[in-house]
Amino acid sequence: MSNQTNESPSGKSSLLGWFDERYPVSSTWNKHVGEYYAPKNFNFWYFFGSLALIVLVNQIVTGIWLTMSYQPSGELAFSSVEYIMRDVEWGWLLRYLHSTGASAFFIVIYLHMMRALLYGSYKKPRELVWIIGMLLFLVLMAEAFMGYLLPWGQMSFWGAQVIISLFGAIPVIGPDLALWIRGDFVISEVTLNRFFALHVIALPLVLVILVFMHLVALHHVGSNNPDGVEIKKLKDNNGIPLDGIRFHPYYSVKDAMGAVFFFILFALVLFYAPEGGGYFIEAPNFEPANPLKTPDHIVPVWYFTPFYAILRAIPDKFLGVVAMGAAVVILFAMPWLDRCKVKSIRYRGNSYKVLLTILVISFFVLGFLGTQPSTPLYTKLAQIFTALYFMFFLVLPFTSANEKTKPVPERVT
Ligand code: HEM
Repeated sequence: MSNQTNESPSGKSSLLGWFDERYPVSSTWNKHVGEYYAPKNFNFWYFFGSLALIVLVNQIVTGIWLTMSYQPSGELAFSSVEYIMRDVEWGWLLRYLHSTGASAFFIVIYLHMMRALLYGSYKKPRELVWIIGMLLFLVLMAEAFMGYLLPWGQMSFWGAQVIISLFGAIPVIGPDLALWIRGDFVISEVTLNRFFALHVIALPLVLVILVFMHLVALHHVGSNNPDGVEIKKLKDNNGIPLDGIRFHPYYSVKDAMGAVFFFILFALVLFYAPEGGGYFIEAPNFEPANPLKTPDHIVPVWYFTPFYAILRAIPDKFLGVVAMGAAVVILFAMPWLDRCKVKSIRYRGNSYKVLLTILVISFFVLGFLGTQPSTPLYTKLAQIFTALYFMFFLVLPFTSANEKTKPVPERVT
């Protein structure tokens, strides 16, 4: 019988050993968690990756339960959401976890991206971590956009109407493309059905696969940190980075603490202001979709408003669409636009600090302007801040190439 005992890599016979002989359980855990060495100086900004994972799980789980009671038909969609809110046990909680969760997702992701801009996490060798992240951002935007159509309220309907008609502005193929996306001459149940299919299965699947690839890429090159020092350069005799600590238990515990803070804040919003004062679920969305009545003021949800403001800032519709697309797509090029050798803002010159501050301010101002009806003053402001937003990306390659940086320490501080 002795040759039938199951020996784990540590030589212990156990259930785990049985699995380890057949499946890389222990080795995967060790490689990615137990013996994954992360820089020891992670700060506040490093919470948002794990928080993004938590929010993703929340969206998937609450989404599955919402789907059990939701009806994707023109006739029933709106009332099935009301039914979830009023009659389904805990339905109100499921719905608000999901709708408030969508806004939380974007807050977390914007902060997560901000961290990368602060510490140069998109730079060599992490270009693919960043690019896969950007693909995640695009898919997340599509996911949120399609989800917003599902309650079939006034803003669902008219918001989708405005955004899909933008495709119509593309020369030559535009009108056919818009028709193809809608599946009908107007937004209809056909559109609702396909958005439902994409929202509940196709895009979440892509998101999960991309998150997996994002983490594989990250663990292949190792994490950056607030000092922008490559910890793999200095290792002890056992090949362990001198400035690294094991992800588990050090960061699993630290991330759990971040998660607790997040849950407290999230619960406060969820229980006291689940509609975010009309920013997470807009007031007109409590009225059923009515193709014959346009709301006074069509605005996307807050996380799209910076890009929406850029769209409206440009008088020509097609050029507006191009500018809006470019505002997102240009971020893909960050690893190449930023030519500074120093990663972390702690040791970078003033030019980058000033440019980044302008970018962040522009993003906030555009975000505000996107929520407001356009007036001549607001349009002018939107034009100025659109120019400032793009200035960041156009000026950066020149200023970063010969930036006056501070000496970067050998080891993390
Ligand atoms: C569903 C969305 C996402 C999830 C679940 C996710 C998850 C994570 C996790 C768990 C980490 C490691 C922990 C950390 O460094 O905070 C990470 C790192 C990173 N992520 Fe994401 N991420 C997402 C989207 C994005 C996006 C949109 C970008 C940027 C375009 C991005 C860029 C990065 C970068 C550059 C790193 C490495 C940071 C460093 O080492 O300093 N991620 N991500």
